[in-house]
Amino acid sequence: MAVTAVVGLQWGDEAKGKVVDLLAAQMEIVARFNGGDNAGHTVVNPLGTFKVRLMPSGFAHPHARCVIGPGVVVNLGTLVAEVETIEKAGLEVRSRLWVSPRCHVVMPYHPAVEAVFEQARGSARTATTGRGIGPVFADKVSYNGIRLSDLTDERLFAQRLHVQLALKNPLLEAFGRPPLAFDPIFKETLAHFDKVRSCVREPFGLLHETMARDGAILLEGAQGALLDNIWGTYPYCTASVTLAGGACAGLGIPPQRISQVVGVAKAYTTRVGAGPMPTELHDEVGETLQREGQEVGTVTGRPRRCGWFDADLVRFTAQLNGATRLALTKLDVLDTLPRLKIGIGYRLPQSGERLWHYWELDGHQLECCEPVYIEMEGWQCSTRQARRWEDLPPQAQAYLRQVEALVGVPLGYISVGPQREATIPLHPL
Ligand code: GDP
Ligand code: IMO
Ligand code: MG
Repeated sequence: MAVTAVVGLQWGDEAKGKVVDLLAAQMEIVARFNGGDNAGHTVVNPLGTFKVRLMPSGFAHPHARCVIGPGVVVNLGTLVAEVETIEKAGLEVRSRLWVSPRCHVVMPYHPAVEAVFEQARGSARTATTGRGIGPVFADKVSYNGIRLSDLTDERLFAQRLHVQLALKNPLLEAFGRPPLAFDPIFKETLAHFDKVRSCVREPFGLLHETMARDGAILLEGAQGALLDNIWGTYPYCTASVTLAGGACAGLGIPPQRISQVVGVAKAYTTRVGAGPMPTELHDEVGETLQREGQEVGTVTGRPRRCGWFDADLVRFTAQLNGATRLALTKLDVLDTLPRLKIGIGYRLPQSGERLWHYWELDGHQLECCEPVYIEMEGWQCSTRQARRWEDLPPQAQAYLRQVEALVGVPLGYISVGPQREATIPLHPL
């Protein structure tokens, strides 16, 4: 087992949090490697329901060490609030949390700059989560970032903050927004930092010492492959690398060490925010998926767009990640539908019968392509209590086998409810 990555194969919200919480029982370390508090991972366990945005989703296992790797951008206010919520629930977490000092800090000007970017893009806006993720990653690659390690030296921090406000405030003012003052930002950032200072320590040694003795480590991806900054639906994507490969840079893990990749996908498709989504439904079936799946954004509260499972997309993203197992979630959401469709590719106007793949098409083509479907019978009974393959109705088994064959990766786990135990471990790790 050694090092296992868990990644999203669609547009995020595939229930990675549930899968990570389930697998963390067997792990010594659970480590986040990308994104920031744009993520919202739901963990349902006997202590309650938690929606974590920065804390690795294995936090509820008292033995598990939690790592936030240098590939993650940290909003200190969010981190402090999460640590405090988890501690209020009776779980000690500070002593087992490692946050890399190399993490870039999301500063108050990042969401403000993002709001300006979105305003300027107008109807072509990305519809981001508004957490400042694009601007903080832009600052990172343009050498304008502030890292957690910078906060240990107040003079250095003050110097960097002055430079950044001198760069950001004219932009904010040009777009009719108030400039940001130095003092409150300086004080608030340091006050937050003080509350988690003991956790800010480089996890590299811990990870490599654990790998040297084959200890089990889980790498938790945020977002999904179709939001990846390179391979996703750019510019309707996120700023970080959302793929298993991103864990190598985002945590300092050698590529050959990752021996398993669990790709998480919903049994249908959702997307929150703007951008192409070929199998999106604007009918009663879409409404049923939205209602039954309670498809509302964890971070933003926005309704998620819903559509049929797109096997062409998931085959591609499974290849991109080197998925060794598929975790198919929210099967129960399909319980009431009499017929089901699975997308297998796309037709383009004026290109006849040729079946196109996602990776061949640009954004404009993805907006105007027509998905090609195969149809299957629904099962119209509840799968929520199923705990073994044999408990599933034959139509559900047929649907799952069809998905598995089209995606080309063995089904490892099937999820039929939010709780840990609502899972069929078909080929567990
Ligand atoms: P993540 O970002 O990938 O961790 O996913 P989210 O937590 O944003 O969204 C997944 C939602 O589906 C959460 O509300 C989960 O509690 C819920 N969920 C997870 N697995 C299942 C399942 O198998 N069935 C149903 N009905 N809900 C599930
Ligand atoms: P988890 O980890 C779903 C989407 C936003 C927007 C785009 C860019 O919970 O699966 P950003 O704020 O990252 O600049 O927004 O990416 N997005 C997500 N959608 N789940 C997420 O995370 C997401 N993180 C970002 O809705 O379309
Ligand atoms: Mg989510």
